[in-house]
Amino acid sequence: MMLDKILKEFSSPFYLYDEDKIKDKINFLNNLELEFPRKFNFAVKANPNLAILSLIHRCGFGAEVVSAGELFKSLKAGFEPENIIFDGPGKTDFDLKYAITQKIHSINVENIEEVEFINDYSLSKGLKTNIGIRINPDIDGSTMDKITTGLSGGKFGISIDQIDFDTISNLEGVNLKTLSVHIGSQIIDYQKLLSSYENLIKIADEQNLKENIDIDTLDFGGGFAVLDHSDKEINFDSWKNNCNKLLGGKNFNIIFEPGRFIVADSCELISKVLYIKNSGNKKIAIIDCSFSEYIRPALYDIKPPIEVSNNSKDVETYDIAGGICESTDYFIKDVELPKIKVGDNIVFKNVGAYGSSMSSTYNSRPRPLEVLFNKDEYRVIRSRDTLEDLCKNEII
Ligand code: LLP
Repeated sequence: MMLDKILKEFSSPFYLYDEDKIKDKINFLNNLELEFPRKFNFAVKANPNLAILSLIHRCGFGAEVVSAGELFKSLKAGFEPENIIFDGPGKTDFDLKYAITQKIHSINVENIEEVEFINDYSLSKGLKTNIGIRINPDIDGSTMDKITTGLSGGKFGISIDQIDFDTISNLEGVNLKTLSVHIGSQIIDYQKLLSSYENLIKIADEQNLKENIDIDTLDFGGGFAVLDHSDKEINFDSWKNNCNKLLGGKNFNIIFEPGRFIVADSCELISKVLYIKNSGNKKIAIIDCSFSEYIRPALYDIKPPIEVSNNSKDVETYDIAGGICESTDYFIKDVELPKIKVGDNIVFKNVGAYGSSMSSTYNSRPRPLEVLFNKDEYRVIRSRDTLEDLCKNEII
């Protein structure tokens, strides 16, 4: 088996990706019978590894970025500027200047002041920059509080009553082409997504009645769920039929920005049990991973699906903990597993999205190795940080 083979060569912890699973997800979306012009732009924040980005680019996707770093990596991985969208509620001058000079598809603003900056800088460079406005639709995505982004009172997007479309469309340095929306991540209820799309269509239709406004692109964001403890997902059949209904007879180019859906289930994080500790009435397996390598359980209280490498018939109840000196550094508590021995591998599933991308070097732990396999071939797509890497950029 692939994992056994790789474990002979590399020590844990490492992220292990299956190329076919990423391609399957991309093909699934590409083959949905959507009856309107559309493009999928991968949300790079879900996984910015260059090899993953390059694979996704080769499958015909564009990219959605939220920082100069993500833009740089996307360009490096091969995405064409005209297939890149820049989102984010806190773009710096540096982010904006870089995005403007690269002439990307659209900078979607989330603050009115961004428009002014983009206009002035573009004019100073003799450019006219395509922009979008991210609307805050005040729609609850009915997902976890920590990843909901569509509600009024939140920091995302701009409320419609704050936007002076006429002034923006009269500016010489910007070209308002897009409206965008993204109401959150891990969305199961496709009706919520549709409400946010419908809201955007209505605003665009209204504005397009004006002589000097021509919004031709609607960016519907991402959000398709891949849950950690259930197979429930968006009902894509109904979603697709309703999208077709909503957009029939309209003339918009549609953009979707899926991140998690493309990569989440393509990847496992392989760890090893270092110690088994009896503490009070608990049995705690301490592993060679921590929230530095995979923070989602500690940050969002999700219970990651896990597997143990042995097939012992005896079952015991464990807490699985990392080695960080903090009491939140647990992956899961009170989980029944085949009896664990020191040296067993514990495998976390569904970690391809917001796994490696949210890892850190806290406690000066090297960021882990990443390996990509395709059928029976595999290769390293990120080497483990060395101890010297941990000192890079620091000056005594
Ligand atoms: N577009 C925009 C503007 C976004 O902010 C996001 C994600 C996406 C697209 C992609 O959403 P997706 O399709 O992946 O749901 N770290 C959290 C998820 C944060 C999502 C942030 N924005 C987690 O691990 O659950």
